[in-house]
Amino acid sequence: MNYKEVYEGWKADPDGFWMQAARGIDWEKRPSKALFDEKAPVYEWFSDGMVNTCWNAVDRHVEAGRGDQIAIQHESPITHSTKGITYKELQNRVASLAGALRMRGIEKGDRVIIYMPMIPEAVIAMLAVARLGAIHSVVFGGFAATELAVRIDDCTPKAIIAASCGLEPNRVVHYKPLLDQAIDQAAHKPEFCVILQREQEVAKLVDGRDFSWHGFQYGVRPAECVPVEGNHPAYILYTSGTTGQPKGVVRHTAGHLVALQWSMKAIYNIEAGDRFWAASDVGWVVGHSYICYGPLLAGATTVVFEGKPVGTPHPGVFWRIIQNQRIKSFFTAPTALRAIRREDPDGEWIRRYKLHDLQAIFLAGERADPATVEWAQKHLGVPVVDHWWQTETGWAIAANPIGIETLPTKPGSPSVPMPGYDIHILDDEGNPMPQGELGAIAIKLPLPPGTLPTLWNAEDRFRKSYLEHFPGFYETGDAGYIDADGYVYIMARTDDVINVAGHRLSTGAMEEVLASHPDVAECAVIGVSDALKGQMPLGFLCLNAGCGRAHNEIVRECLGLVREKIGPVAAFKTACVVDRLPKTRSGKILRATMVKIADGQPYKLPATIDDPAVLTEIEEALHGLGLPKTA
Ligand code: COA
Ligand code: AMP
Repeated sequence: MNYKEVYEGWKADPDGFWMQAARGIDWEKRPSKALFDEKAPVYEWFSDGMVNTCWNAVDRHVEAGRGDQIAIQHESPITHSTKGITYKELQNRVASLAGALRMRGIEKGDRVIIYMPMIPEAVIAMLAVARLGAIHSVVFGGFAATELAVRIDDCTPKAIIAASCGLEPNRVVHYKPLLDQAIDQAAHKPEFCVILQREQEVAKLVDGRDFSWHGFQYGVRPAECVPVEGNHPAYILYTSGTTGQPKGVVRHTAGHLVALQWSMKAIYNIEAGDRFWAASDVGWVVGHSYICYGPLLAGATTVVFEGKPVGTPHPGVFWRIIQNQRIKSFFTAPTALRAIRREDPDGEWIRRYKLHDLQAIFLAGERADPATVEWAQKHLGVPVVDHWWQTETGWAIAANPIGIETLPTKPGSPSVPMPGYDIHILDDEGNPMPQGELGAIAIKLPLPPGTLPTLWNAEDRFRKSYLEHFPGFYETGDAGYIDADGYVYIMARTDDVINVAGHRLSTGAMEEVLASHPDVAECAVIGVSDALKGQMPLGFLCLNAGCGRAHNEIVRECLGLVREKIGPVAAFKTACVVDRLPKTRSGKILRATMVKIADGQPYKLPATIDDPAVLTEIEEALHGLGLPKTA
């Protein structure tokens, strides 16, 4: 069947389509139907099935005779090590950790936070939690203690699993002091912590609370897989919203398994025995779906990569690993390719390696600019497939499903809707936009299996954020259009979320931090275009009347404050002091106009602006920072 037939097949019989896809999963008890719509507009999938994630990702492959195949390949150019773990070994290590967690009281439904760098133990910890039917919440290592504390208070974990340190090219990230600070700051206290001591740093353990990874597992009985209901939460993953309080995206177990298993073959053309690599981080949704669960569900080999696209040690590191590990499908963020292209514009590093097994490269996380896609296609000689999705959906909304049919690619477009997604372009009142015209992108409910059913402890926020603006639809927060061939184009966000080096960040969260500085009366943060990272945050600070302190000192403190409270990943490196912010007469800050000015684009004077002179002041301030002045 070609793409069109598959998509139309889903539209004609969605339940039949997903029940068929569910055959790719081992069930303890098969579900009686796919969609459970009793609580519409909140939908669930396969709720009356019984299933275990870890069984499907690990044990069933050992049982099927794949025990000696490499399940996880760890590639760490930072520590100069490369090491494979077979499915059998993975099963033993996961069962042992799960046994130890169970001994300490972790049961189905308990939350466990995982705060670890890119080492196989991070995936082992995720699988061990899943084995028990407990719920993990992985926190990205680039977040500061305060962000970790917010997550501890929101999901109230019984345990936290962490490593002593992470390794960035220029420094050691001291995880353990960050963890200790976060636990001090949080109102909720975990019962215990498990700490993996890495060679590069041995952390001091807190007596009675902290256990070392190895000692903790000594002599325990390995745990078996605990089957859970289809609608039992598999994990919570926090993502940026419009405020400082992140959204806890909930993923239900069965829909997650069915959708990811389907996507591995249909979208990435990966089957048992193949080798797949997603160069992301387990702290992001890409890492959840396509470093950990997707490839393992498929019985493929997955790569855990501890390094950067450039500088560890050179811009050929991706191609070296693709050659040595014979990778068939590779997934990265456009920003990583831009970083490589900057250092290797003529593709000399690419030509040093033999990439015979590589069939396609997949890009997501931010808009893939046509120039980068074309550069990669030219030098790599394989399809470069942009695909669009979100933490909320967990898998691609639009893609080029090369496992079904390789459609012609159109640079600038992530191609076509995947089965399960009925994409509409709407105006602000919810009316359909004419074809080819820009509008808000909404998806007709129900969303397919694997997508978020709700937000953790925040059903109201879920409804308000996603379901209320366009009744009957899920509001994606992205704006774009669909062309005459049905290709989707994602052009911008409709909210205060920005995308920095493929990392989703909230300008609202940064503003909350800046506003806490004693000299700051008012502030605004916007995302400005950046040739490497896509966007970079830029802050505007209005100081309290009579504040006589040097502006550069206050700016320095503000940059430090965002790094301390949100983390280095915010990449908040530029801010300036201004007298006033441009506002409408009703007091709304004109952020979109400020973005246009900062990007050097022409802009229309907003009809509702209170005082147009403020825009000139903003232009002057940006000029002072070396940013272009609008023509
Ligand atoms: N733990 C601790 N700190 C981290 C971190 C982690 N896991 N990941 C990033 N950081 C830090 C970096 O060290 C850097 O700190 P610095 O300000 O002290 O230099 C800061 O956060 C910003 O990191 P980043 O935005 O990644 O910039 P970079 O300059 O280190 O690297 C790229 C630039 C383009 C090479 C890099 O961003 C990259 O590889 N991007 C790919 C993104 C990706 O895979 N996204 C996942 C979505 S698919
Ligand atoms: P995250 O939840 O971190 O995966 O970020 C999701 C957001 O990243 C989306 O809502 C988009 O704004 C953006 N995004 C992800 N993939 C793409 C893509 N292929 N093209 C354009 N934007 C994308």
